[in-house]
Amino acid sequence: MAIDRTAVIGFPVDHSLSPIIHNHWIKELGLDVKPYEKINVDPNKFEDRINNLKIEGYGGLNVTVPLKELAFNISDEISDVSKKLKSVNTLSLSSEKINGDNTDAVGFINSLDKKTIEENITNKKTLVLGAGGSARSIVYALNELGGQVRLFNRTTEKAAILLNDLSIKSDPVCKEELDDYANSSSFIVNTTSLGQKVRDHNDILNFENIETETYIYDLIYNPKRSSFLEQAEVKGLKVQNGLRMLIEQAAYSFQIWHEIKVDVSNELMSLLESV
Ligand code: ATR
Repeated sequence: MAIDRTAVIGFPVDHSLSPIIHNHWIKELGLDVKPYEKINVDPNKFEDRINNLKIEGYGGLNVTVPLKELAFNISDEISDVSKKLKSVNTLSLSSEKINGDNTDAVGFINSLDKKTIEENITNKKTLVLGAGGSARSIVYALNELGGQVRLFNRTTEKAAILLNDLSIKSDPVCKEELDDYANSSSFIVNTTSLGQKVRDHNDILNFENIETETYIYDLIYNPKRSSFLEQAEVKGLKVQNGLRMLIEQAAYSFQIWHEIKVDVSNELMSLLESV
């Protein structure tokens, strides 16, 4: 059955760009469905709210912080990747059941061009900074792409738990080893929240001796150039922010609900860059 009502849920959800993205495609394709909305959902009332949204006719919900684990717990059927990540960011609601999926890892993979995957990730040393929710998807994705994944986090124990959960056989990188690992990595991705505030200054990684061919990725897209990416750019390294991943993970949710594969156009990228 066609899904008519879709939305992103979070707490708070006010700053989400998902409505701009989904409504761009709904309009572009001329779909006869309601506009995609954003809805605040109190974590303490999660189950009741989801049931009410189902009754109100919502068939597709994107889930953002801090609700991804609750969404995982409420799902009757869970995709393999969600099971691995223990997190759901896409719910499909029907009268019989709730399906939970996670589109972050696919979104990250689809945000990379073929050349970067081949030259900087597959069979190459990759380094992930941070061990929060988003790091899980990135570590999973890099491992799927055949990268040798190393993980650094300020709190080392969290990195060890993440690697263990994803059955990745490597020890977390400790602070003293970080520069050496970074200097021999082909791909480095920052998943920490350091940089989300305009005045945040990257003090995690020193770019002084990073190889010129190393690809530097930051999941942060606002600001467009985090201090992490700025420092990398000054050194002449190739950099990418998280905007394309944001759109690609939305595209995969859109495909799950509407069974249509959408393109990520330059027009949409520019639209979001101007927000
Ligand atoms: P997300 O869901 O976006 O991944 P999160 O789960 O809150 O967010 O995780 C935030 C990550 O950023 C964590 O790895 C955190 O490190 P800790 O586990 O040590 O808390 C990391 N982080 C946040 N601020 C940081 C800072 N100033 N320096 C280094 N790491 C930081």
